[in-house]
Amino acid sequence: MRALRIERAENREDLLIALEDLTEILHGCVHAGASIGFVLPFSHSNAQAFWIDQVCPAIQKGETCLLLARDAGRVLGTVQLGLAMPSNQPHRADVAKMLVHPDARRRGIARALMRALEQEARARRKTLLVLDTRSGDAAAQLYASEGFRVAGEIPGYCRNPFDDRFEATTYMFKALA
Ligand SMILES: CC(C)(COP(=O)(O)OP(=O)(O)OC[C@H]1O[C@@H](n2cnc3c(N)ncnc32)[C@H](O)[C@@H]1OP(=O)(O)O)[C@@H](O)C(=O)NCCC(=O)NCCS
Repeated sequence: MRALRIERAENREDLLIALEDLTEILHGCVHAGASIGFVLPFSHSNAQAFWIDQVCPAIQKGETCLLLARDAGRVLGTVQLGLAMPSNQPHRADVAKMLVHPDARRRGIARALMRALEQEARARRKTLLVLDTRSGDAAAQLYASEGFRVAGEIPGYCRNPFDDRFEATTYMFKALA
């Protein structure tokens, strides 16, 4: 890996600059079988709409912190810290949409993103991180190796992106000291 840089997308302009790469990453992940909220058919314009219609307003409202992993000018990975919490959970944040382009995997990009996201959480005085991931996915190993513990598993939680069958999800959490 050359010099991987983790950046925060602060506003709409930052997101628009990265939009083509983000669209490519999301589209590629779904078509490679990731269970991340979408099912086929899933077009490039569906992927672009996610960033523009859902993530962009959330950044503007301060409801999500979007991190980008950039290598040689190209964004290859991304993750979000979900900050929209009820008022009795000001100490909590969600880890969401950890995505690495299928051609850029096993180079430590997700681990670098996770560590940077944890720093973002600490900077906001968050002491509890929560996430969910399809049971058995590679992501669960990443999270476990970064100190996340399994809270439990919910069978039949979400539909497979390709087939009409439902799969389990594992909830995980990490207390930040
Ligand atoms: C999960 C994902 C983000 C990992 O990205 P990555 O950049 O390849 O991960 P890293 O190279 O940083 O790997 C970190 C650790 O994760 C685990 N890991 C990652 N990919 C793995 C795989 N295919 N099989 C087993 N473990 C894996 C390993 O513990 C790895 O550490 P190691 O390389 O020292 O063994 C990537 O596979 C992805 O985008 N998947 C599709 C989207 C998705 O499912 N996201 C999670 C949503 S909850």
